[in-house]
Amino acid sequence: MRAAVLKEYGEKLIIEEREKPSPKEGEVLVKIKASGINPVDQKLSLGYMKDRMPSEFPIVLGWDMAGVVEENGHSARRFRVGEEVYAYARRPLLHAGTFAEYIALPESYLSKKPVNISFEEASGVPLAGLTAYQSLFDAGKLKADEAILILGASGGVGTFAVQLAKYHGSKVIAVASKKNHDYLTELGADYCIDYKDNRVEEALKEISSTGVDMVFDAVGGDSTKIGEKCLKENGRIVSIARQGDTLEESTNFTFVFVEPNSRELDHMREIIEAGNIKIPVQKNYKLEEVNEAFDQIDTGHTQGKIVISL
Ligand SMILES: NC(=O)c1ccc[n+]([C@@H]2O[C@H](COP(=O)([O-])OP(=O)(O)OC[C@H]3O[C@@H](n4cnc5c(N)ncnc54)[C@H](OP(=O)(O)O)[C@@H]3O)[C@@H](O)[C@H]2O)c1
Repeated sequence: MRAAVLKEYGEKLIIEEREKPSPKEGEVLVKIKASGINPVDQKLSLGYMKDRMPSEFPIVLGWDMAGVVEENGHSARRFRVGEEVYAYARRPLLHAGTFAEYIALPESYLSKKPVNISFEEASGVPLAGLTAYQSLFDAGKLKADEAILILGASGGVGTFAVQLAKYHGSKVIAVASKKNHDYLTELGADYCIDYKDNRVEEALKEISSTGVDMVFDAVGGDSTKIGEKCLKENGRIVSIARQGDTLEESTNFTFVFVEPNSRELDHMREIIEAGNIKIPVQKNYKLEEVNEAFDQIDTGHTQGKIVISL
């Protein structure tokens, strides 16, 4: 099979022929049709997480995928051959990821792919969608009658956070540069704040003088501290991009690191099939263009999702 392979941290990925995996007991072999690109892929290639993430070189990167079941390993029974599936495929060892034509995964990782979207769109859902879902609902316990401020609203994760919060019935205030405001309004944001021309706390005061119930921070850096200033008394902040090291001790803060969860992916499928979430894929890359896709995600200004078609 063809795969994009990392030989050393800091090097470019190389397209190579690798042996097609065979599914072990309880595993499913999936023919990958598309694979989502996330900032973590590029960070992993640079070795930023090497102390926390055991790896074995050569590494096939990639944690997102949508594809078709090709073969069931012994005792794997949840899916039929030919069934369309999607998964957040983060395994304990960084070695055999989704920038390849095939992957063997424990069947517990897989969910049926939403029927009303393409493989490319579906491959953009698992990592970013689960991150938003786990941040808003598992960690943040967002309620329908609450107001949420979303920092980094136009990116991969923010795109899902805006739509999930809106679907949930919450008041959504999206923070992004002006060029992304029409995009966010279309996705359901009630208000947009431009972080480049405004002090976000002051712009928020015109929308809600007392602040918001929850801040979801998908930016990190100084933004986490700005988010803290936007909270209502007893409000809470959930970040996926920075630990709460700069915040007041009294601030209700949670850091989320997204976990694979096929039950939550099943719920995402229901929400998508009911037409409540769009997956704006800004660009499909070929496997051979994976390094270009890394350059794009490294800008920190990607709108929606970018994916690789296989
Ligand atoms: N902890 C976890 O489990 C987890 C999971 C997924 C992602 N992450 C991390 O979360 C971050 C976001 O991920 P992503 O996939 O959404 O990234 P992404 O797709 O690259 O999105 C970046 C977005 O951030 C916006 N942005 C940049 N600076 C901003 C600022 N100061 N204020 C508001 N928006 C700003 C950009 O919009 P403009 O063009 O308008 O600036 C862009 O749309 C990354 O650091 C990623 O590594 C963590």
